[in-house]
Amino acid sequence: MSAAGPLPATIPELAERAAEILEPDVLAYVEGGSADELTLRANLAAWAAVALLPRLPADVAVRDPSVSFLGRERPHPLIAAPMAYQRRVHPEGEAGAARGAAAARAVYCLSTLATSTAAEVTAAAGPGPRWFQLYVLRDRGRTRDLVSAAAEAGFEALVITVDLPVLATRDRELRSGFALITEDIPALRDRAGGDVVTPRQTTDHIDASLTWEDVASIAAASGLPLVVKGLLTPEAARLAAEHGAAAVVVSNHGGRQLDTVPAAAEALPAVVEAVGDHLDVFVDGGIRRGTDVLKALALGASGVMVGRPVLWGLAAGGAAGVQHVLELLLGELDLALALSGCPQAREADPGLVRRP
Ligand SMILES: Cc1cc2nc3c(=O)[nH]c(=O)nc-3n(C[C@H](O)[C@H](O)[C@H](O)COP(=O)(O)O)c2cc1C
Repeated sequence: MSAAGPLPATIPELAERAAEILEPDVLAYVEGGSADELTLRANLAAWAAVALLPRLPADVAVRDPSVSFLGRERPHPLIAAPMAYQRRVHPEGEAGAARGAAAARAVYCLSTLATSTAAEVTAAAGPGPRWFQLYVLRDRGRTRDLVSAAAEAGFEALVITVDLPVLATRDRELRSGFALITEDIPALRDRAGGDVVTPRQTTDHIDASLTWEDVASIAAASGLPLVVKGLLTPEAARLAAEHGAAAVVVSNHGGRQLDTVPAAAEALPAVVEAVGDHLDVFVDGGIRRGTDVLKALALGASGVMVGRPVLWGLAAGGAAGVQHVLELLLGELDLALALSGCPQAREADPGLVRRP
């Protein structure tokens, strides 16, 4: 139960609930995309445009959503995407979101711009697989401290986001006046005292001169497996592989960075073709249904990151809401596995889908 009543039974209703609960500026921050929001909309349309091709009859009496990535068996392919400022969405913040993800046996990825430290999340959320998302800051000493704090807190992978050298303009968010207090963002805490800052001022701490060599050396020094997040082309994926990545995330930042880049679902197959034999390829952007998850697996993804729906769950019910939204997706994935005649998630292949 949340303050606003029992948790809704579907993801679209959770989105509606979040829209009722969240302050208008926080809602604009969560929902908005960049510029004309063409990529934001294209992400959704592209999953919808992929058709599933069922293979029935088949023995689907027992289904298995398990997969493996980064050298580990996982009970299912869902990963909670890194998203900044989660205490603005719900007082439980990142710790609650991580607890909810762990309860749903999903990987939780903590943002550099989180409102809790890695150590706080581990202390509050207990065991559960966690990855740390890194924005490489201009202050390289601070960057190293953040990475080693995450490694010490038991985080298992370093996800370096490369599609945000500078923040894109997000009109909805700007119009809403969404702002933060630097004190709330431990990664920047002693940067500007307790000042009120805009997201742009916050992301000004990010190093816009980052190169592949920097990515490689930061990852090597961390001792953690490197996941490069925010690429859309085979060329970029090959460079990630050459610079030590164990995995890539095909992502356009949920339509929040460069507008008019391809939808994630469109970009995925060529990246899988280029590096899928050697690297794990994850995808995010517009995953809203279990059928979307199955389509991603069929197109070669090892796992999928879920963004805004996790925040809808967090808004609606804190940790319980996050667990709920991930379990809704898993329930739908189970149905999709049955109804498509593909009972083993790890056996989903391109023959299961028709691309436009
Ligand atoms: C509110 C919000 C904050 C985000 N913050 C970050 C971040 O701090 N680091 C990052 O790598 N990606 C960030 N992202 C992008 C997500 O990790 C992910 O790529 C995207 O949300 C996936 O699209 P979806 O929301 O359609 O599922 C953010 C996304 C949202 C919606």
